[in-house]
Amino acid sequence: MQNTQLSAILNEAKAQLEKAVSRSETDEVRVKLLGKKGKLTEILRSMGSMSPDDRKKFGKSANEARAEIEGLLARKFEEVKAAEHALRFSAETVDVTEPGADIRIGVRHPITLTIDEISRIFMSMGFSVTEGPEVETVFNNFDALNAAPNHPSRELTDTFYITGDTLLRTQTSPVQIRTLMRRQPPIKVIAPGRCFRVDTADATHSPMFHQVEGLLVDEDVTMSDLKGALDSFAKRMFGADVRTRFRPHFFPFTEPSAEMDMSCFKCGGKGCRVCKGGGWIEILGCGMVHPNVLKVGGVDTERYTGFAFGMGVERIAMLRHGVDDIRLFYENDMRFIEQFK
Ligand code: DAH
Repeated sequence: MQNTQLSAILNEAKAQLEKAVSRSETDEVRVKLLGKKGKLTEILRSMGSMSPDDRKKFGKSANEARAEIEGLLARKFEEVKAAEHALRFSAETVDVTEPGADIRIGVRHPITLTIDEISRIFMSMGFSVTEGPEVETVFNNFDALNAAPNHPSRELTDTFYITGDTLLRTQTSPVQIRTLMRRQPPIKVIAPGRCFRVDTADATHSPMFHQVEGLLVDEDVTMSDLKGALDSFAKRMFGADVRTRFRPHFFPFTEPSAEMDMSCFKCGGKGCRVCKGGGWIEILGCGMVHPNVLKVGGVDTERYTGFAFGMGVERIAMLRHGVDDIRLFYENDMRFIEQFK
């Protein structure tokens, strides 16, 4: 009777292993037959109630059956393992002959390149580069820069206010204040960065643009230091032949104030399209730092004097590269941007 049970279990093992296609399915068969509560295990356990003779005979066949099932399982395990490997290999095959994805490497933006070049020139004269935030206080952007309470650029129609006392800076000049409040002379810095004004974009205007600010404070600084430094800058930026001239102007934070023009680098001053016939091109604002500004930073105005300047980066880039519309800088058209690399 037990022998028929054994051969039934053996047949069951064969049938089930036939169907198994994975290691886990194979293992299920093992547990069902040979596990702690497996069919063969139960039968072996029931041998206790047999006569010694029967037990001996049955024990032998049962062990043979067990050995046979274990052999079948082992073979099946190898088989499914190999099949799983093969499947995984084919699923994870990499076609090493397939062309790679095209990675487009960008170029630095012409405005960045222009700022870098301006910075390099001033760094060679001993200036270091500093920065200030684009969101500024009204105090730093206007009051501390000696702007009169009714100064027109304070108007809501000209300035992007964030709250009553914060705004998007309209100029990089507030970095002068931050620098003066943080440090004592000698000070020799430039500060490039973004500025914002309420403006409708056209060929020469943009509500967002860039400036480079300059500030030098030390003993015995005079207007001739200012002229020498800025003339040297113009020659290195636009060519050794350019000449500069300084016209009186007004800025609240400098006294005296001036605008610097340079002779047209295209026509040499004879008059052409670039200089609109005049022979001169306005290039930046400058002046001797107003004592009221130095005082905000706690600078001893009896001992120290300084000069400051500010220039528009877009304007310089447009002049140098013959770009006739400022909006081209902000459209991110690679055909335009790639021309400057
Ligand atoms: N902040 C001025 C502007 O935006 C530019 C300027 C003029 C900056 C004279 C200066 C300066 O530092 O001394 O128009």
